[in-house]
Amino acid sequence: MSADTLPIRPFTQPVRVAFSVPGSKSITNRALILAAMCNQTLTLRGALFSRDTQILCEALKALGFSVDANAAQSTIALTGLGGKIPRASAEINVGNAGTAARFLTAFLTLHPAGTYTLDGDPAMRKRPMKGLMDALKTTGATFTFHGEPDCFPFTLHTKGWTHCTALEVDARASSQILSALLMVAGAQPHSVAVKLVGKTVSEPFVEMTLQMLTQFGATFTQPESGLTTFAGTSQLQLPSETYRIEPDATAASYFLSLPMVAGGKVILPEGEQITLQGDIDFLKPLAKTGLTVAKANGHILIEQTKESFEPVEYDFEAISDTFLTLAALSPLLSGPTRITGIGHTRHQETDRIRAMANELQKLGQMVVEEPDAIEIHPDLAELYARADASKHCGRLLCVDTYEDHRMAMSFAILGSYDLLQDGQPWLQIRDPKCCGKTFPSFFQHLEQLHSLPEMNIEFLLIAVDGGAASGKSSTSRGVAERLNLMHVDTGSHYRAITFECLKNGIAADAPEKVAAFLKTLSLDTQLVGRTASIVTGGHLPEPEALRSAEVNQHVSAFAALPCVRDAVKGYQRSQVAVAQENKYVGLIMEGRDIGSVIFPEASLKIYLQADEATRSKRREAEGQSDTIAQRDRIDSTRKTAPLQVAPNAVIIDNSTLSLQQVIDKIATLAIPLCKQA
Ligand code: DC
Repeated sequence: MSADTLPIRPFTQPVRVAFSVPGSKSITNRALILAAMCNQTLTLRGALFSRDTQILCEALKALGFSVDANAAQSTIALTGLGGKIPRASAEINVGNAGTAARFLTAFLTLHPAGTYTLDGDPAMRKRPMKGLMDALKTTGATFTFHGEPDCFPFTLHTKGWTHCTALEVDARASSQILSALLMVAGAQPHSVAVKLVGKTVSEPFVEMTLQMLTQFGATFTQPESGLTTFAGTSQLQLPSETYRIEPDATAASYFLSLPMVAGGKVILPEGEQITLQGDIDFLKPLAKTGLTVAKANGHILIEQTKESFEPVEYDFEAISDTFLTLAALSPLLSGPTRITGIGHTRHQETDRIRAMANELQKLGQMVVEEPDAIEIHPDLAELYARADASKHCGRLLCVDTYEDHRMAMSFAILGSYDLLQDGQPWLQIRDPKCCGKTFPSFFQHLEQLHSLPEMNIEFLLIAVDGGAASGKSSTSRGVAERLNLMHVDTGSHYRAITFECLKNGIAADAPEKVAAFLKTLSLDTQLVGRTASIVTGGHLPEPEALRSAEVNQHVSAFAALPCVRDAVKGYQRSQVAVAQENKYVGLIMEGRDIGSVIFPEASLKIYLQADEATRSKRREAEGQSDTIAQRDRIDSTRKTAPLQVAPNAVIIDNSTLSLQQVIDKIATLAIPLCKQA
């Protein structure tokens, strides 16, 4: 099998899992541009880290902005300069990132005397820019083209926006053209009227831009259809120093569809808080297939409740990024799928209608391609026959992805269907890395939605991770109590080993001695209430001994040793059996690497966060002298099993929440995952 293809492992058990997805690309890139025009340092939380956002971050750095990106925490801190661009010249490559291409080109025209040279990938050189460039010429900007006219690469000479009070734009080819102009126009201190010539596509994205401008303090009126008049704002500004990026609704569409191929139920935590992204309306065509879509406690629940799935006819114009998700699953529907309103997607990452038609035809489906629509007549028997024939030749069916991340992710969900009913891959995806554009860890997320093979489906497994004093223990105990789960505190495992080593005069800087000692140390379990406590060398350690100042000081160094982690990993995984033997309905395990290393397949992964001041106060209240920040640094930078937000983990910041509120939040996610729910 060639290295650039990835076989997809089908789901052989129904899914029963809460999933989360990285931040929205569209919101992250808009927020970066808006933040750059503010006059403050803004931290974007839940930001997306992908090729498209990286390109924009790098470009802003090249222009002289201070950008501090922390991928492990999904934060980007950016210092805006009130509409000023530090460097008057730069060379920027926008790759194939449509948002970066359009937003940056408009943003650069803010400079009163700038000269910028921009280029993109071969595919980007063909994507529409003319409407944007023509509109920007109103500001006095001029373009010198180095290839085809009105396309990348080009050099842009800018004059600022001081004299621009009105402009017209033709954004029929892409709504990003209009969004780019609106953001820069909305940041002007004087009034600017933006008039749209004709209509644009993907209107929800324009709506997103306007809503975000409002959040950043811009005001506007829309006196007539297609006309947006900004009142002028002395300064774009947010009332807070942080801006929370919504999870990406388009990325969510893949996992929301999973019950169609695997059966069972998925939950998108706090999905109801997705309000800026039109793509959340993908739930509508999804419901038309017969999947049950429900909302409860702010979460979105999708469940397979029927054996077969209805044919769907739907206009995807407003949610066109999600049409591929449904199209790829069309072989599983009981009749033809008709998707209209998608003509503009022929000019996106690839000609998406063409690409989809090609690949579905290769899979034996009958496809009718129209200029702005696609109709698929499903033939599951033919798909089966082709997959079976390939299998007998020792091959898998293969989907080409055309450097289009959405092709890869959509077909990965189809491949998750156990077509041959043998649990073996039958479909592979060419160039899976193309997902890096918007969702680099997509396949890792997908893989982790499979449940543990040794675990029966009724058993509920919850992983809770977070830094020191983030509230893991009290939260986990509370959830265990509420849901009748067994509780395991893995911090105590490392503390017990540290205690035993120190007692025997063994220091963390002698790892070979630690390793030799651990070979002689037995690890067992004793239930104390519903907490499964570690028993080292036949002794249940005293809780006070495990929390002594000496143990606090050394535990992170011991926990960073690979031999220590190896010693506890099997022990921690064996706690599922302990919980099952003791008739608990599930297990909640807390630590630093539970969701990422010990149980990546947990039904529910929680990552608890609290600001440092809150955490220090908590430790003081417990009478603990503890160097939280220092421990966190060691825990999150070590090579083996560092503290990090696991794929799919639900981040809960509990700085301003009561313990009861956090327990409630987790319980409302966990209860629908219980088999009986
Ligand atoms: O949660 P705690 O403070 O009791 O954890 C003690 C130390 O153990 C902490 O500094 C990091 C380490 N630890 C770890 O590395 N992995 C875990 N799963 C749990 C704790």
